[in-house]
Amino acid sequence: MTKTLRFLCVGDIMGQPGLAVFQRWAPKLKEKYAIDSIIVNGENAAKNGKGLTPKIIDFLKQHGASIITTGNHVWEHREVYAALSERDDVVRPANYPSGCPGKGVAFCTVGGYTVAVINVMGRVFMRDPLDCPFRGIESLLTFVRTKTNIIFVDFHAEATSEKRAMGMFLDGKVSGVFGTHTHVQTADEHIQPLGTAYVTDLGSCGALNSVIGMQYEQVMQRFLYHPFMGKFVVEARGPITMCGVWIEVDVQTGKALKIERVYIADETISSTLDTDQSSKV
Ligand SMILES: [Fe+2]
Ligand SMILES: [Fe+2]
Repeated sequence: MTKTLRFLCVGDIMGQPGLAVFQRWAPKLKEKYAIDSIIVNGENAAKNGKGLTPKIIDFLKQHGASIITTGNHVWEHREVYAALSERDDVVRPANYPSGCPGKGVAFCTVGGYTVAVINVMGRVFMRDPLDCPFRGIESLLTFVRTKTNIIFVDFHAEATSEKRAMGMFLDGKVSGVFGTHTHVQTADEHIQPLGTAYVTDLGSCGALNSVIGMQYEQVMQRFLYHPFMGKFVVEARGPITMCGVWIEVDVQTGKALKIERVYIADETISSTLDTDQSSKV
């Protein structure tokens, strides 16, 4: 019988609402889908919706996360820099210049098997001048594949085209490629021809009635009036979503056997939150 492992991959946690929905739903989903391990993107998990802190890493771990991935907002709170370098359960995009705190790949043990999680960031429509993600991941994989063939890649990128290209570039080389950063779940999850599971974006954990997690009112100021006259505030009202996919992997081959989208819209959790997030920086 084929031995398999199941991984739940969860999109960007958006501030306090994202942490609350993860806390409530991660255990339920774990049980429902018989999940062995959870990978979650924490780049927006801090209270102001940008970055993360050592405390938040501990919170996510305590509520079921195995590895925490990040993205362009990872540098927001300086207190996380030491954790990025010292901890082996949090990653930042691998294609930041060498010398930056942290690392781009993390390993964990799931059901007795070594699993690698790689974080890499796109360059199209992104501000940070990074090294080529394609060449970067190619050389990283030569090292990672000596350790395991169960490998996941969080490709933190804006452009759908760049994400699709990365998915196909890595087909047959890793178990799963999932996009993050745009915060809106895409419906294109599938197993590619050579066995790599793929989805363009996992979506996010945050308020449904928001602009990618932020309050509409302040964002609208920015679209209507330049220069920007207000400050973005994390939305905590209304339904809070938890988005991602779960992927089943054959541990012998490292190939994906199944990918399924997960979408929760919790109608009651916002009543437990402080809906004025403006002071939560
Ligand atoms: Fe994000
Ligand atoms: Fe991002």
